[in-house]
Order: sequence, then C-alpha cells, then structure tokens
Amino acid sequence: MSSIFDKCTKWNTADDYRERGEYPYFRPIEGYDGSYVFINGNRLLMCGSNNYLGLSLDPRVKEAALKAVADFGTSCSGSRFLNGTLSLHEELEERLTVFTGKEAALCFTTGYQVNLGTISSLMGRDEYIVSDKLNHASIMDAAFFSQGMDKSIKLKRYRHNNMEDLEKTLKGIPEGSPKLIVTDGVFSMEGTVVNLPRLSELARTYNAAVYLDEAHAFGVLGENGRGTEEHHNFSAAADLVMGTFSKSFGSIGGFVAGRAKVIDYIKHFARPLIFSASMPPANLAAASKALEIITNEPERVQRLQQIAQKMIRGFTERGFNIGDTETPIVPLVTGEFEPTLKFFHRLYERGFYVNPVFPPAVPPNRCMLRTSYMATMKDEELDRFLDVARQEGKELGIVE
Ligand SMILES: Cc1ncc(COP(=O)(O)O)c(C=O)c1O
Repeated sequence: MSSIFDKCTKWNTADDYRERGEYPYFRPIEGYDGSYVFINGNRLLMCGSNNYLGLSLDPRVKEAALKAVADFGTSCSGSRFLNGTLSLHEELEERLTVFTGKEAALCFTTGYQVNLGTISSLMGRDEYIVSDKLNHASIMDAAFFSQGMDKSIKLKRYRHNNMEDLEKTLKGIPEGSPKLIVTDGVFSMEGTVVNLPRLSELARTYNAAVYLDEAHAFGVLGENGRGTEEHHNFSAAADLVMGTFSKSFGSIGGFVAGRAKVIDYIKHFARPLIFSASMPPANLAAASKALEIITNEPERVQRLQQIAQKMIRGFTERGFNIGDTETPIVPLVTGEFEPTLKFFHRLYERGFYVNPVFPPAVPPNRCMLRTSYMATMKDEELDRFLDVARQEGKELGIVE
C-alpha cells in the first residue's frame, strides 16, 4: 500500500550532499560580531544578509524591542481582527503612511503574508494578475492562492522588466477587464530595478492598477531610502506599495500602503491577516525604531548605495557576470549547479558567507552566488572579498 510519505523516504538528494560534506543550507549562526557571523566556530564576513542598514544589531533598535517586551509581553496571542491589535500596530501604521506618502498602511506578520493577503483579497471573478517573471515566490503563491479561491482569476506573466512584453500582455487582455500589474521594485535575486516610469505609463494607458513590492527597495533606493518611487523621482506611481521589516528594518513583519478605502477593504478580506496571529510587540517596536533611524539618518542609505557601486564596479573589473544589478544585491552568475556549489564552499572556507541560489529560485542555467551588503561594512573588508572571489573564481574557471 502506498503512503503520502513514500516520496519523503525515497528522496535522498539532501542526504547525499550531507554525506559528502557539501550541503550548503540551514547552517546555524551561533553569534554576530558586527559584519561577521560565527558558524561552527568559524568567523565569516557576512556577504549575504538582507540586513542592508545593519539595523537588526543597532543598540537603539534592540533597546526598543526589549522595552516593548517589558510593556506588552512576547506575543499578541491573536489576530489583528480580534484581540491582536495593539496601539503599537496603529502607531507604526501611521508612521508608514507618512514614510510612503500614501493615505493608509496595514501591518501583517510577514512580508510573505502581505503579498498573499493583499493580492488574493483584491482579486475577483475574471480579473487579471499581470506579473513579472522574476517576481518573488510570494507573489506567485499569491496568484495560486487567488486562483484556488476563484478559478476564473487569470495569471499572465511577462518577461523580466521587459516593457514591450508587458505592453503585449496588456493588449492581449480583453478591454475593460480589471487588472493588477504586480512587480518587485528591486528584484530579489538579480538586484535589478523595475522600469517604473514606463510601467506606470503603460498602466495608465491600459487602465491597470500597480502593486509594487518594495521588500528590497525601502531603505535601499532613493536619497532617503523611500524606495523605487523616490529612486525614479516619480511619486504616486504605484497604487499600492508593500514592504517587509525583515530586511532594511531589522525586524520581521510587513505592510501594505495605499488609498484608505482600499486598505480598509484589505483589512476585512485578507485571510492571511485575519486567520493568523499579529506581529508581536518586540518586532513592532524594532521596526518602528528602525523607521525613525532611516528617516533621521539618510547617510546610512547613502553609504549602502556607495558600497553597492563599489561592489558592482569591483566585480565587473574582475571579470564577473553580475547581470544588470544597480543595487547592493550583486549576483555572481555562475550558470551550472556544480561550479556554483564549489565556488560557495571555496569562499566559505576562506571566511566569506554568501548565498548559493539554484532553481526554482532562479531559472535553470542561471545558478548564482547571491551576494549582498550592509551599510556597516568597511572598505578593507569588501576589498578583501573582491580579491578572494577573483582568486577562487579564476581557479574554478568562473572568470578568466
Ligand atoms: C521581493 C520579496 N517580497 C516579499 C518577501 C517576503 O518577505 P518576508 O521575508 O518578510 O516574509 C521577500 C522575502 O524574501 C522578498 O524578497
């Protein structure tokens, strides 16, 4: 008799890599020392974190989290809808409204839930989700979730940041059908920035709404870290923006911001908001303090942008294929699986932590080491990483 667990017993891929000592994932970090992490007793420079502004280790952010625990405890023990809304949620939402320049904001427990909840609550019968092919997995899951609730909801995908293909896609949708263009502001693996001015123009022409995922853009792009709209000097290009607190904000959780009436609707229809416990006090206070720091200390964002330019230039000069990144996400595109894994291990042994990325997170043959940087890193550390990457990459035939 077969069991649903047969597939688990038969699946040995991870075991094979573990036996050979080559398994790269789930390595527990035992502690932090500035830009370094300790793993298995080794001290490695963290070149793979999304803690872009270093705020998860900022003493002011840590203190705010501790105070919130003292005042409110460790959990909200309920959904936002019922007993799980604190004054801290509403205060943070008010600040986010100012930060994004929208009318209202709503916090969820994770960024993933923001995408799932917002998109699925807005989509209705015979409506269209129009999505960039390299959008984050949570956006794809939001589309699947929406279709699970109503099969008539359609998903159309266009080539990455390709505005001609987006236009072709929009033209192919029956006139008058409601549609939502969904795009990352900064693409999480490639570090590319969406062509927001053209996308927004197309949205107006074809009467589509725009949903912008700013997970990697808030605190990263724009003079004041206000994201893709500020970067393109184009406010109000998106009807809805979402952000997560798990990256520049040094916490966990996320939010969506937009017109007050739309946010109120999402509040009452987003299942991942209604049927899951709300963001806990420590994370709310940490995100709130981080937002205050981002607003008051734009020099952190500017230092991050300077580091991004340094690393883009440094890897390009050393012969790496880094795609079209413009941000502190700098992919070292390696192509095939085996050289990518070897490159990861070589860098790890030399004291550098990066993230190896394989399909389905990236298209086949576009395996990469995803490197990313923090505003707190020093030039000497970064120079050393560039040189070691060049040495090891050359030995492995990744660069000439
Ligand atoms: C573009 C993008 N959107 C959404 C998310 C989900 O955010 P969270 O980690 O807060 O759930 C991520 C996280 O990796 C992301 O990269």
